[in-house]
Order: sequence, then C-alpha cells, then structure tokens
Amino acid sequence: MGNEIAMTSSEAELDLQQAAKDHLWLHFTRMSAYGKSDVPVIVRGEGAYVYDDKGRRYLDGLAGLFVSQVGHGRTEIAAAAAKQGSELAYFPLWSYAHPSAIKLADRLAGLAPGDLNRVFFTTSGSEAVESAWKLAKAYFKQKGEPTRYKVLSRELAYHGTSMGALAITGLAAIKPDFEPLPPGGVRVPNTNFYRAPGFVAHDLDQFGIWAADEIERAILREGPESVAAVYLEPVQNSGGCFPPPPGYFQRVREICDRHGVLMVSDEVICAFGRLGHYFGAERYGYVPDIITFAKGVTSGYSPLGGMIVRDEIMEPFLSGTATFLHGVTFAGHPVSTAVALANLDVFEAEDLLGNVRKNEAGFRATLEKLNDLPIVGDVRGAGYFYGIELVKDKATRETFDDDESERLLRGFLSHALFDAGLVCRADDRGDPVIQLSPPLICTQEHFDEIEQILRATLSEAWKRL
Ligand SMILES: Cc1ncc(COP(=O)(O)O)c(C=O)c1O
Repeated sequence: MGNEIAMTSSEAELDLQQAAKDHLWLHFTRMSAYGKSDVPVIVRGEGAYVYDDKGRRYLDGLAGLFVSQVGHGRTEIAAAAAKQGSELAYFPLWSYAHPSAIKLADRLAGLAPGDLNRVFFTTSGSEAVESAWKLAKAYFKQKGEPTRYKVLSRELAYHGTSMGALAITGLAAIKPDFEPLPPGGVRVPNTNFYRAPGFVAHDLDQFGIWAADEIERAILREGPESVAAVYLEPVQNSGGCFPPPPGYFQRVREICDRHGVLMVSDEVICAFGRLGHYFGAERYGYVPDIITFAKGVTSGYSPLGGMIVRDEIMEPFLSGTATFLHGVTFAGHPVSTAVALANLDVFEAEDLLGNVRKNEAGFRATLEKLNDLPIVGDVRGAGYFYGIELVKDKATRETFDDDESERLLRGFLSHALFDAGLVCRADDRGDPVIQLSPPLICTQEHFDEIEQILRATLSEAWKRL
C-alpha cells in the first residue's frame, strides 16, 4: 500500500516532456518553438558527453554553457558537495566566515595575477559584474572622486542580464524590453579583426592600437572624471570569439592608468583553463584591477561567482567605518566553495591547463579544415574557445539578412547540430556564428568528432540556402 502511494506520486510517473511544456520557463528561449517539437531533456553526463531522456549521446561542445571544464560525472566533486552539505550546508558570509570560503579565497588569491588578493563571492556572473560596478562606484566615493560612475564596455559584449549587468552588456537587441536601464553604460569598438574598419583592416597591430585608442577617446569624450571602469573579456565571447590583437591589453592598461579608470577583466568564461591558464589576464600578460569570474570555478557542480580585487581597491575599506554595503544570501555558499576546491584539485591532478596548451593548436587546425566550406568565413579564438563565422559570400564577407539568419540558424542549424549529436551554439546576436567551448579534458578524437558533425551539417545548410 505504502509502495503504491509512493509509485503514483513518484517522479518516475511524471511525464517530463509534458510537464516541461506546461510548467518550465526556459531562459532566452522562444517557448512557442516547443508547441510541436520536444523540449530536449538532458538526464546524465559522463566526461565530454551528455545523454538525453531517450538515451541519445551528445558531445558537449559548449561545456554546457562555457561551464563544465572538468567534464561531467565527476564523483569526487559530487562527494565533496555531499561532505560539505552534511558538515555545514549553509552559513552566510555576512559578518561570518566558513572554512571552504576562506580556503577558496586564499587559493584564488594565490592563482590570480599581481596583487589581486581579495575575493568577494557572488552566486553568478551577472552578480559578479554588477558587484564590480558597485565596488568601482563605492571605491571612488571613498577616494573622494564621487562623480565617477560610468562604465565602458565593447560592442556586442555580453556581461550578464541583471539590470546593472545589462547596462554594461553591449548587445543592443536584448535591452529594449527592459529600458530604462541604469545610466552610465558607454560602448566602444570590440576587437573583431574580420570586420575591422577599412583603414586598419590589413594590419592587426594598427587595428589593435586603434581599438584601444577608441577607449581613450570615449573616456575623454565622456569626461574622465565621470568614468569609473572599463569592462573587457580576455577573448570576447559574444559576436564569436574575438581574441585581442598583440599589445591591446597593455595599451588599455596604460590608458586606464592615465585617466584613473579601473580595468575590469570579465573572466566569467575565460578563467579556469578555457584559455590554458587560470586567468585570461595571465595569458595576455596584463594585471587588471578587478577580475570577475563564475562558471568554470566549480565546473557547474554547484553555482558560484565572484570578483578578485587588487589590494589598492580594498584598501579604503580596511579602516574606520568604511563598509562595502553589498551582499547576497547564497554568495560563497559552503557547498559551492567546497565544490570549487575539489574542482581545482582535479585541475591540478590532471594538469588540465597543460592539456589545453598541449592540444589547442590541434583544436585550431582541426576547425580550420572547415575553411574549405563556402559558408565558413572565419575561424577564430584561442585555447578551447572558438567561434566560426558563417557568411553568404566568402569573397565579399557578406553576411546573411535577417530572414536568412532566421531560417538558417534558428530554423535549421541549431536543431540539426543537436540532432547530429553535438551541443554547440548557433548565435546570431552579432553576425551569425557557431560557438565552441568543449570541456578541458577533450583531445583530438573529440575535435575530429566536432569537425565531422560541423562539416556535414554546415554543408547541408549551404544547400538549403
Ligand atoms: C563574460 C560574461 N559575463 C557575465 C556573464 C553572466 O553570467 P551569469 O549567466 O552567470 O549571470 C556571462 C554569461 O555567460 C559572461 O559570458
């Protein structure tokens, strides 16, 4: 009898497909798309692969959402979560500390470049980005420069969705529904060399100088006394993986120093091995004032984000009554910080940074084979982080119009790539791109599988145009 009741009310009896359609609201998703077709339900993961409710296997070419650095199904990380949960499942970082948060802060301070020694935890990347803006404003008020509040960020750059983070995000198309946003977001050019303005299109170094100097011009235009910070990803994700030209970050650092503006390296994607280093700033040889992180710090085994801050930024908050009046309940959660420590243990034990550095040339070379397809305009990126830009005309670099983009990316490619067994992202928030960011455990066999699926599916897409 007891068993019967358990059976009828058990999860196993629930029609997941129908319940998802009836009750679950998917993020950034046209829910109408699932009127007739099934919601993909992913039930399990192992290594670089995930499995759906029908038992089909997919290569996770996006690490979930730029998250699963160590791959799926790591029982040692799950065990660390269980151990922490049974010892101390929750306590806030509001006036208290707990061992996992302390140990993780200490470890991150040791890994971060320069004198970035202070860690403020959040639960997500958007919160980290927004916290850094609040910190920049509060810091300048402490320093007697209360008029600094504006933030510069690059065209198309995605920095999150909460109101403050959205004001920093450079994707115009995702903002109008939520306006007015907090004032102070200012756009500067990104480092998309493939779409560089004509006068610098043939010289990467000159392009980099121009793009960096545009930041200075924007600071001067806005008035340096009004500008608090510049947000930059080491490799910009949105728009399709724009690496920095040589010397770009060094020049931006000088510009920030010249005008007293804080440099924020938004490493929500680029940290924790994505570029073969713990931090992208290390790869490109600059020391920012603040690093924001999330995603890979736990490889997704539990949510966590945060910012790492230079000593100088912390300094005004270390004396008297000065207080950073900011915090969230679950930031630096004991389970998440314990998970992050276990995640970093895996990085060390398996030399995942070494794996990325050893294999990244192979990843690039494998993806570059796709250059022989008429639809592939550009293959760009670094580490295990690549974008493939799709074009209508390779010679002129002409892109697709809205209707073609709709048919190609939403109507065909997204589903076809998934059906062919690859999780990746077909994104048209800038020019249409396929984004790839596989788990850091991947090797040549995975790159070959990605290339084969892309080759077949992109060839089919071309025929359908
Ligand atoms: C560079 C960058 N910043 C911030 C965010 C926002 O992070 P979250 O989705 O955890 O709020 C993202 C998310 O993809 C990101 O890529």
